[in-house]
Amino acid sequence: MTTLPYVSGFSAHTPANVLTNKDLEAFVDTNDEWIRTRTGIHERRKAPDGVANADLAAEAARGALALSGCPAESITHIVVVTCSPDVLCPSTACQVAGRLGLRARVAIDVNAACTGFVSGLDVARGFLATQKKARVLLIASETLSRFCDWADRTTCVLFGDGAGAVILSNEAIQPGGLHARLHDVRHAADGSGGDLLHFGGRYTNPGSITPSDVFGKEYFIQMNGREVFKHAVRSMTEACQEVLHDNNLTIADIDLFVPHQANLRIIEAVGSRLNVKPEQLFINLQKYGNTSAASIPIALAEAREEGRLKPGAKVLLTSFGGGFTWGAALLIFDE
Ligand code: ACO
Repeated sequence: MTTLPYVSGFSAHTPANVLTNKDLEAFVDTNDEWIRTRTGIHERRKAPDGVANADLAAEAARGALALSGCPAESITHIVVVTCSPDVLCPSTACQVAGRLGLRARVAIDVNAACTGFVSGLDVARGFLATQKKARVLLIASETLSRFCDWADRTTCVLFGDGAGAVILSNEAIQPGGLHARLHDVRHAADGSGGDLLHFGGRYTNPGSITPSDVFGKEYFIQMNGREVFKHAVRSMTEACQEVLHDNNLTIADIDLFVPHQANLRIIEAVGSRLNVKPEQLFINLQKYGNTSAASIPIALAEAREEGRLKPGAKVLLTSFGGGFTWGAALLIFDE
C-alpha cells in the first residue's frame, strides 16, 4: 500500500500594495457598491513594478520551508503552478530555484489556470509515488494584474496578485508538527470552453506576430463572465460530490471547505448546492480578489494563522479555471 502524502508548511506571500475598489473608481468606470455586491471583493493586492511573479513565489516558498522545518537542500522537486509567468522561458520554478539557491532534480511549471493548485497536488503525488525520498516544493504564484486591461471594468476589478506554497513528502518532516495527509485529489478539463476565458496572446492567429507588434487586446484577460460562472458552479459542485462519495464522507464530515476565491456568488452557489454551513466555509476573497491558482494556498495559510487547520480536521478544496479546468482535493490533518 502506498503512503498518503504528507502536506505541510502552509504559507503565503502577497504584495503589500493594496488596490481598493475606491482606488479603481479613479480610473475605470466602476464603483465600490457594484464590485462588492456582484463579486464580494473589497480590495486586491497588486505587485509593484519591479516585483516579479517569481519573487512572490520565492517568498511563499521560504515561508513553507521555514514552517515545515524542511531544509532547503532536501527539496528534490520544485513545481510552480501559474498561468501568469513573468516569461515563458526559463520556467518560474527554475527562477525560484535560482533565487533560493536550490539544485532540485526537477523544476517545472504547470498551467491549469485557477485549478493549478489542485492539479499541482496531483503532480506532486505522482512524483512521491515513484520516488520514496522525494520532497516536493509546490508553489502557486500569480500576477494576473499584468494581464488585466485596466480600462476593462468587466475583468480588471476581479483579479489580484499573490502566492502560496506547501511541501509534500512521504514522511512527516517534523513529527508532531502541523501536517495533513492528501487523501484524494482529482481534476478534469474540457477544452471546448477555451474561448470563454483566455489571455496572453493572439492564440487564434499567433503566426502573424512580428517583433515590432505592440500588445493587442488578446494579450489581456478576455472572459465571458456569465458562462464561466455557470460552468464553475456546476463543475466544482460535481467534483466535491465525487470526492465526498468516493471517500465515504458527507459534507457534514468536513470541518473546512476552501473553494477557489473567484466570486462570492459562485462560492455561495456551490456552498448551497452542497449544503455547506457558514462555519465550514473559508472566504478571504474580499481582501485579495481572484488570485487564480494561488487563491487556495493563500486561503490555507490564513486558515492556519487563524487556527482553523486543527489536528483531525477534514478539509475539502475545490477550484475551477480557464481551459476549462476544475477539480477537488481532500486533506485530513493528523491527530
Ligand atoms: N462596474 C460596474 N458595472 C459593471 C462592471 C463593473 N466593474 N462590470 C460589468 N458591469 C456592468 C455590465 O456592463 C453590465 O451592464 P449592462 O447591463 O448595462 O450591460 C452589468 O454590469 C451586468 O454585467 P454582467 O456581466 O451580467 O454581470 P455579472 O453579474 O454576470 O457579474 C462577473 C460579472 C463578476 C464577471 C461574474 O459573471 C463572474 O464572477 N463570473 C465568473 C468569473 C470567474 O469565476 N472566473 C474564474 C476563473 S478565472 C481564471 O481561470 C483565470
